[in-house]
Amino acid sequence: MASNERKIIVLPDARTIAENAAERLLARLVQASGPAAICLTGGSSPQQLYQLLAREPYRSALPWDRVHWFMGDDRFVPPDDVLSNMGMARRLFLDHVNAPRENIHPIATTLATPEAAARRYEADLNRFYGRDRLDPARPLFELVVMGLGPDGHTASLFPNAPALLEDKRWVVGVDHAGFEPFVPRVTLTFPALASTREMLFLVEGEEKREILARVLTGNDLPASRARSDGELTWLIDRAAAPESRHAT
Ligand code: 6PG
Repeated sequence: MASNERKIIVLPDARTIAENAAERLLARLVQASGPAAICLTGGSSPQQLYQLLAREPYRSALPWDRVHWFMGDDRFVPPDDVLSNMGMARRLFLDHVNAPRENIHPIATTLATPEAAARRYEADLNRFYGRDRLDPARPLFELVVMGLGPDGHTASLFPNAPALLEDKRWVVGVDHAGFEPFVPRVTLTFPALASTREMLFLVEGEEKREILARVLTGNDLPASRARSDGELTWLIDRAAAPESRHAT
């Protein structure tokens, strides 16, 4: 059953958000038996988390051999492009830990079109999951990390985009990004992202305060529509918290 209830946790700053997120990720992985999938995100908000995962205690504590790393969306650029989300995750942690190569699942952004890459990624996810229909009782992911764009987008699900309404496919191509960088994208859809034990939004900085207030007051934005078959947790820092407008 999809949860509509957000648990909102306000933390002092970006560093404590990263620490809290790393602890959650570790706890989810320790609880899981057998292969476990984590869905990562791009943007600046998860960067401190990724750096932490390459350091102790996480470097030794994570069961790297059975964790599979997927990306919730990526920019349709070559894998070594500075804009690549998986490229960033590799640079910040995956290249520096004992993650088996076959456990890292990049979106194939070298294919001819975002649509072709989306089909390929959906097949990759189907293979990992063992079927092509999602069962709410058996989530695809242990944890899905999400960010909040200044226009309310999340993953590459932009305001008013047709992808918001997708209810069957797990992954779609996005020819026109609604926000910078304006390169085509490939994104998981809401049903695929919802198939998780926990969806974890990371929201930091004063520049997110206004859009976060809109999400929290029920405006119909992509990030407001994100649901989870498990828990739905928003970690926000004081600077982004709407009530912090006059705080010192
Ligand atoms: C992307 C991201 C995107 C991101 C938000 C928030 O590829 O751009 O996946 O959805 O999470 O734009 O980005 P920041 O963390 O940089 O604010």
